[in-house]
Amino acid sequence: MILVTGGAGFIGSNFVLDWLAQSDEKVINLDKLTYAGNLHNLSSLSQDPRHIFVQGDIGDSSQVSQLLAQYQPRAIINLAAESHVDRSIHGPADFIQTNILGTFRLLEATHAYWRELDLPAKQDFRFLHVSTDEVYGSLSKNEPAFTEEHRYEPNSPYSASKASSDHLVRAYHHTYGLPVLTTNCSNNYGPFQFPEKLIPLMIANALEGKPLPVYGDGQQVRDWLYVTDHCSAIRRVLEGGIPGETYNIGGWNEKPNIEIVQTICTLLEESYPTADFHKLITHVEDRPGHDRRYAINAMKIERELNWRPGETFATGIRKTIHWYVNNQQWVADVQTGAYQEWINKNYAGLS
Ligand code: NAD
Ligand code: DAU
Repeated sequence: MILVTGGAGFIGSNFVLDWLAQSDEKVINLDKLTYAGNLHNLSSLSQDPRHIFVQGDIGDSSQVSQLLAQYQPRAIINLAAESHVDRSIHGPADFIQTNILGTFRLLEATHAYWRELDLPAKQDFRFLHVSTDEVYGSLSKNEPAFTEEHRYEPNSPYSASKASSDHLVRAYHHTYGLPVLTTNCSNNYGPFQFPEKLIPLMIANALEGKPLPVYGDGQQVRDWLYVTDHCSAIRRVLEGGIPGETYNIGGWNEKPNIEIVQTICTLLEESYPTADFHKLITHVEDRPGHDRRYAINAMKIERELNWRPGETFATGIRKTIHWYVNNQQWVADVQTGAYQEWINKNYAGLS
């Protein structure tokens, strides 16, 4: 079996659902259930004995050690993290706690477990750390896309905490021989993404007739990947990646934010022909330290592991909008008091 951390979050729940749709190998899902964790994402697995959910913290070494001893997984996929850049700007402490200290404690428990495995199990074991392109910092308009050799230059408390975790993972390979793999992926979108991130926030606000808050001039560029393509890339790296190596994952889909928001408005207007969603677009104060451009060069994973994304942005965004339009109750359920507090804090003054 495999152990997935953060499997009740956006990418994690897509990964668990995708994994069990393709394989009967059991998944232990360790998730703290922070505001971003949602077991409803996994309700289709509630009677499925292949999915074992455990509420807990990757930073709780004794709980992790006990899980490893009990279930003896052949691999750990580490997705658990604090993931929202704006929240890291308002309060970095949780990011340091989970992304740095939590990853450290998870590595410690994993190392202790792995050291005692017999030789074949030791050789087959993998610790796959899911990271982000944000560790590479910001590109100017004409700079080439990030390769795996690009220097680390994180700019936000979030990306600095992820960069730190990447360095720890690398060190556990270099120093102790732990068979680690690291993936650095671009912006994901798709079902179950918490409506604090650009695409689901814009869809949810538009459906409620609320302003669509575009930071600054909206010309910041992100490289978008449909979430199930990220899941298939993680599976490929787990199967064929070389321990100690890192793999960039991206969809060759660079787009300025304003274009994303306009596309969402246009597609929603196909479903609601009498509505004018474009008029809701509102430019607001920029994110402090806002990275201008990310772009992933995914040649290595394509060449070495024969992975390609299955969705284009045109197909992925339609699927995503369709999902949010048809799952408005899911959105309403996560828009709790705590969500409103966040919206009031980050978008103060926007009515
Ligand atoms: P998310 O915020 O939607 O989910 C994170 C999950 O981790 C939640 O279920 C949460 O409850 C859980 N969690 C948080 N702290 C924990 C802890 N201490 N112990 C156990 N569980 C904990 O995040 P996401 O967007 O699904 O991102 C998942 C991973 O992928 C993160 O490591 C993130 O850095 C990385 N990543 C995300 C993107 C993206 O565009 N969303 C892109 C590249 C990489
Ligand atoms: O690049 C990978 C990263 O992508 C992941 O590591 C992070 O976990 C994930 O959150 C994401 O980070 P971003 O900061 O790029 O994503 P977000 O959806 O928050 O913002 C995307 C862009 O849209 C960014 O340039 C900021 C802008 N934006 C965002 C919000 C929430 C707005 O203009 N308005 C908004 O209200």
